[in-house]
Amino acid sequence: MNVHTYEKIWLVASLFLIVGFIATVVYGAAGAGIAMVDASGGTVDSTSLSENERFGEPGVERVGDGEYEVTVVARQFMYQPDPIRVPADSRVTFYVTSADVIHGFQVVGTNVNTMVIPGQVAKITVDFDEPAEYGIICNEYCGQGHHDMEGKLVVVPEDEYGGDDA
Ligand code: CUA
Repeated sequence: MNVHTYEKIWLVASLFLIVGFIATVVYGAAGAGIAMVDASGGTVDSTSLSENERFGEPGVERVGDGEYEVTVVARQFMYQPDPIRVPADSRVTFYVTSADVIHGFQVVGTNVNTMVIPGQVAKITVDFDEPAEYGIICNEYCGQGHHDMEGKLVVVPEDEYGGDDA
């Protein structure tokens, strides 16, 4: 069979394209160390959060100079605590888990955005330099009240921060 030179070129080029597409998808799915949920936060028994050392009392804790840990429980259809108050010029690590179904935890306007899965702890660290107010929204459909599930994060000026009532 005589295959025209141009046709050979197109055949080879389209083969490269197909292999290229597959390689791109595989790399995107597994190659770059991408994880849907950061597993570094560990796991937790979602049926007994109230007895858990960390999640029994959701809230803000100062753990060092300008460093805070915020423990958040997501549940239908709210976040605890709400609002979350942290001081400006701080480094904040969020530990978020769910008491019931899969929720989302996005602090709008920051790069904090994670899925919240019962039994798993999502851990995210972010710096807040300036006083500001952020909305927190749920990006996973979690039931009838999903569209009303929201919270607030308030970054208050350092000298106004009490801390303990956060
Ligand atoms: Cu929680 Cu949607």
